[in-house]
Amino acid sequence: MAPKICCLGAGYVGGPTCAVIAYKCPDVQVTICDLNQARIDAWNSDHLPIFEPGLDDVVKAARGRNLFFTTEVDRAINEADLIFVSVNTPTKKSGMGAGFAADLAYVESATRRIAAVATSSKIVIEKSTVPCRTAESMRAILEANSRDGIRFDILSNPEFLAEGTAISDLMKPDRVLIGSLETDEGRKAQATLASVYSNWVPKEKIITMNLWSSELSKLAANAILAQRISSINALSAICEATGADVDEVSYACGLDTRIGPKFLKASVGFGGSCFQKDILNLVYLSESLHLPEVAAYWHQVVIMNEYQKSRFSQRVVKRLFNTITNKKVAVFGFAFKKDTGDTRESAAITLANNFIKEGANICIYDPKVEEPQIAIDLAETGISTAEYQKRVTISKTPYDAANGADAIVICTEWDEFKTLDYEKIYATMNKPACLFDGRLILDTKKLRAIGFQVEVIGKSVV
Ligand code: UDX
Ligand code: ADP
Repeated sequence: MAPKICCLGAGYVGGPTCAVIAYKCPDVQVTICDLNQARIDAWNSDHLPIFEPGLDDVVKAARGRNLFFTTEVDRAINEADLIFVSVNTPTKKSGMGAGFAADLAYVESATRRIAAVATSSKIVIEKSTVPCRTAESMRAILEANSRDGIRFDILSNPEFLAEGTAISDLMKPDRVLIGSLETDEGRKAQATLASVYSNWVPKEKIITMNLWSSELSKLAANAILAQRISSINALSAICEATGADVDEVSYACGLDTRIGPKFLKASVGFGGSCFQKDILNLVYLSESLHLPEVAAYWHQVVIMNEYQKSRFSQRVVKRLFNTITNKKVAVFGFAFKKDTGDTRESAAITLANNFIKEGANICIYDPKVEEPQIAIDLAETGISTAEYQKRVTISKTPYDAANGADAIVICTEWDEFKTLDYEKIYATMNKPACLFDGRLILDTKKLRAIGFQVEVIGKSVV
């Protein structure tokens, strides 16, 4: 009989992942739970709580058939054979390891809930990104609370989906990792989960390994990806100073098949819920293991990312005659990348904060991020309500945002920014009208011909 699945956490990871499992495995009953009623209501409505291309169709096809969304966590746990733990694991804000270690309070409380309410054996699957050896703590909690005849097996099955392409990443994954303890029971649990994925993922792409390798592989993959971006961003600073063009350098390096072309696009800095968090986890782990050189090595990837954001902010201020006080700056894009409404760790937050601190009035346009989220994000960087009200406007169109502005700053690479009517925009701006491309997406020649003063990351002014 097909196993029943429950997922704890209906966020960016749990929602799309388990929706695709339900879509691909009509025989498997999948129940996605969350403690947040509003989030579950949204999953059950026509307006899903997260924007992800292709997600609507997947949910529509499976919801009510073998895909359910509920806040009845205990019932869902009890009915399931396999339980995905996909709760949030933010970086700790205080206490031991603050600023580096992951806050595992949500993972722990979800694990305790499973232990408390389960009346039959379960396979518990770590899905959230967690530090290496988290499974050990989960196992200790489950074993200490297991009752006669109930077994808990732990698996690590890290998520590699990227937001904006989550559905295609899930439908055609490069690989599916399943880590388990090297025991007979562990291998049996591994095989049960593998049988779910084998409904649509080719067998050779389902990789089994030990639990700790699987946990560390997730952190390692994200650290290596982020490292590539920090490497090209470090080179972008050299390009600006020498007259080299970072796109050309990236292209030339990427043609070497040993390097490859992906993740070499210079930018205003990487964002998202994973890269920074995972690297800081790795730094914390390295320090805990008394490997300070290793910790410093990985930490530099995040330091370089911060440097890139502050370097770009400074370039904007310098270009606008060393002051942006009371000038209007239009911020194009607030999400951490295109095709998502997610703003976690978005470079735009840091840039907007820097501009406000310099006394600018900023006008933000993003096709998918809504005003309350922007207000929360800026408040978290220390912008007071009074400052926000005085300095920040949210526009419904990019044309409104740029109207009367001294500068446009491209923070997110939304496709629509490539095809705007820049002549129309130029006509409504203060002169000289400046445009800063933090994503290297615009045709600078054309913009300069219109009259814009254009500055691009990784390119010196010609
Ligand atoms: C990442 C990993 O790609 C994914 O495998 C993992 O499961 C979660 O973390 P995500 O954060 O959703 O996914 O998006 P990703 O496409 O990796 O982009 C992260 C950031 O890097 C974005 O801000 C993006 O704009 C930036 N980026 C990406 C660059 O600046 N240059 C690049 O070449 C690629
Ligand atoms: P991610 O990007 O890792 O998916 P999110 O913050 O988008 O992170 O989603 C995590 C979800 O997990 C949140 O909606 C949160 O309410 C939910 N959650 C946290 N703890 C529990 C729990 N014990 N049981 C069920 N859901 C939980």
